[in-house]
Amino acid sequence: MERVKIGCGSGLPVLMVVTLAVVLMAVLVPEVSATRWIVGGNMGWTTNVNYTVWAKDKHFYNGDWLFFVYDRNQMNVLEVNKTDYESCNSDHPLHNWTRGAGRDVVPLNVTRNYYLISGKGFCFGGMKLAVHVENPPPPPTAASLNENSASPSFNLRGQYVLPAVLAIGALWDAFVHFW
Ligand SMILES: *[C@@H]1O[C@H](CO)[C@@H](O)[C@H](O)[C@H]1NC(C)=O
Ligand SMILES: *[C@@H]1O[C@H](CO)[C@@H](O)[C@H](O)[C@H]1NC(C)=O
Ligand SMILES: *[C@@H]1O[C@H](CO)[C@@H](O)[C@H](O)[C@H]1NC(C)=O
Ligand SMILES: *[C@@H]1O[C@H](CO)[C@@H](O)[C@H](O)[C@H]1NC(C)=O
Repeated sequence: MERVKIGCGSGLPVLMVVTLAVVLMAVLVPEVSATRWIVGGNMGWTTNVNYTVWAKDKHFYNGDWLFFVYDRNQMNVLEVNKTDYESCNSDHPLHNWTRGAGRDVVPLNVTRNYYLISGKGFCFGGMKLAVHVENPPPPPTAASLNENSASPSFNLRGQYVLPAVLAIGALWDAFVHFW
């Protein structure tokens, strides 16, 4: 008897269905995703890694971070210009990202080339990284940081999610009435 009452009072199921739809859409909307790249992967920031090779097959997007993990007693992380990257000159860095813990984060927040080297002679041994930072591609290829492009994808998904949820709600309602 109680089930029939719930089914007949259409106010409650509709509210439930709408709530469910909102929750589902929130879950399905793509996460705004930025990548935190651990430079050198498992090897980290060290000697005997070719960072040109490491970076070659990767796309670095505006909003990503580079995370340098290394021996704080030996290496460091300096941003230099192209000339100094090529010649391993660490005498006048554009930015010293070294914080002292051997765990340094470099935000890639401008679409340009970034040149990062280790001073103390390690650049000559190959500790040099050049990355080209691009704007993220539009959805659905990947989530965008741009608010304007997030809205259409929300609507697109909503077109499918809402009717599906309403259909399930109608079925449930019919089921309740049947009993
Ligand atoms: C890099 O900086 C050095 C020293 O400040 C300068 O001589 C050189 O021209 C700069 N190179 C570029 C590409 O800006
Ligand atoms: C970079 O900054 C760190 C921490 O402040 C400092 O210890 C180090 O000497 C600096 N290195 C250079 C090359 O400026
Ligand atoms: C990029 O990040 C650096 C370091 O956090 C900050 O100083 C700079 O203002 C940022 N630039 C932009 C365009 O957000
Ligand atoms: C890294 O590999 C590239 C491509 O194979 C090569 O041109 C470059 O000289 C290497 N860099 C170092 C530091 O060995």
